[in-house]
Amino acid sequence: MSESSYIESTKEAMNKAYVPYSNYPVGALIVTKNGNTYSGCNVENASYPLGNCAEAAAIASMVLAGERNIKMIYVMSQNDQGGCPCGGCRQRLREFSDIDTQVILCSPSGVQQRLLLTDLLPNSFGPEHLL
Ligand code: THU
Repeated sequence: MSESSYIESTKEAMNKAYVPYSNYPVGALIVTKNGNTYSGCNVENASYPLGNCAEAAAIASMVLAGERNIKMIYVMSQNDQGGCPCGGCRQRLREFSDIDTQVILCSPSGVQQRLLLTDLLPNSFGPEHLL
């Protein structure tokens, strides 16, 4: 699949977000090392802390399908800087990432910034620390 179709799918996910409290829709699309894609959107709740981030939804979908290796993730919000993973989601992504995993911040008009997860979460704690 081309990057433009990944971006289109990320936008479709963002447009499904349930965000009556923040009005801040986020879409995420994971591309795994196998080349498959898994999307997610944020889903809020009247009990505010129970809302889920878009990245968490995409990770859950990936894991449910039996995959665990993130090649890249597109994150889209409606602002000009693009979607930016929160601290908690950086750690969630870390669980299924390696030193090459890319995080691509997008606005509706396209890619705004290409980063590595290691840029967003340097010196991170991960599964290997528990061995
Ligand atoms: N949000 C995400 O979905 N992902 C992030 O990484 C940042 C924040 C959501 C949570 C909440 O529904 C809204 O954005 C505002 O914080």
